[in-house]
Amino acid sequence: MNATSAPLLRVEGLTKHFHTSKNLFGKPTHTVKAVDGVSFEIGYGETLGLVGESGSGKSTTGRLILRLENPTAGQVFFEGQEISRLGAHAMSPIRKKLQVVFQDPFSSLNPRLRVGDSVGEPLQTHGLVSSTAEKKEKVAALFKQVGLDPKFMDRFPHQFSGGQRQRIGIARAIALGPKLIVADEPITALDVSIQAQIVNLFLDLQEELGMAYLFIAHDLGMVRHLCHRVAVMLRGRIVELGSTEQVFANPQHPYTRALISAAPIPDPDREALRRRIPYDLVPPPPGAVLQQVEPGHWALSAA
Ligand SMILES: Nc1ncnc2c1ncn2[C@@H]1O[C@H](COP(=O)(O)OP(=O)(O)O)[C@@H](O)[C@H]1O
Ligand SMILES: [Mg+2]
Repeated sequence: MNATSAPLLRVEGLTKHFHTSKNLFGKPTHTVKAVDGVSFEIGYGETLGLVGESGSGKSTTGRLILRLENPTAGQVFFEGQEISRLGAHAMSPIRKKLQVVFQDPFSSLNPRLRVGDSVGEPLQTHGLVSSTAEKKEKVAALFKQVGLDPKFMDRFPHQFSGGQRQRIGIARAIALGPKLIVADEPITALDVSIQAQIVNLFLDLQEELGMAYLFIAHDLGMVRHLCHRVAVMLRGRIVELGSTEQVFANPQHPYTRALISAAPIPDPDREALRRRIPYDLVPPPPGAVLQQVEPGHWALSAA
């Protein structure tokens, strides 16, 4: 596939095994298959939701895409270029286009750095500003873009609320004009009342700037409003993948049904009738493969 016809991101058989304990001779005795042969694509300007219980391998998938982790097997293609084994130097131009927003902006922001400097740091690193005045001007514009008053630029992270800090994290992520943002549970740690505001900010910024998101979440709540497509992950495997409409209207895998039943419904009458479907987190059978249910909609077979 050449670079022009390639999707923005393609992940092929991505696998990450962690060896959590070793015997006397350094041989691994226990292996966690955090990500176990995951494949999907993200188109330009598209949002793919990656959902699943805690421990299902979502963050590891994100970290592999971001090159924060080396894959055990499989490949990551960004704009048609394989990046899964690139070193730091070769990754540098790609870093501009591939950014991250973490769950907890407090731990991702340097507590001793004024937030304006945190947001401006990537601009400086990539040589996109030539003076302090220019940096300030660009940072002020980024603050406005994420709904923050630029006069707060000189404050420190602890002086902001959780929602404001996440806005700062987002400003930093968009500073270089990325094509893809991996957002790893960016609303999970926020008050429910703030979550919708941040989801709306993601939507507004996508409309303005046209970037794609890999939006990681452990439940389906906001995913419905934000994502074009959804991938459901269980024990390192994708068990279902389809458009948001397909997955919500016609869920195939029992785990997807359980996740949907666990998501609150905004309509109080229907919410009162909602019954949770329990699901044992059994790993999918090793021989199971994704089968097409309808065009664009895949679910893992029983065996
Ligand atoms: N650095 C690591 N070393 C060992 N095990 C890890 C490491 N990172 C993640 N894991 C394990 O891999 C699995 C998937 O983790 P993670 O990707 O964080 O899941 P999620 O983001 O869906 O909660 C978990 O069992 C977790 O304990
Ligand atoms: Mg995680």
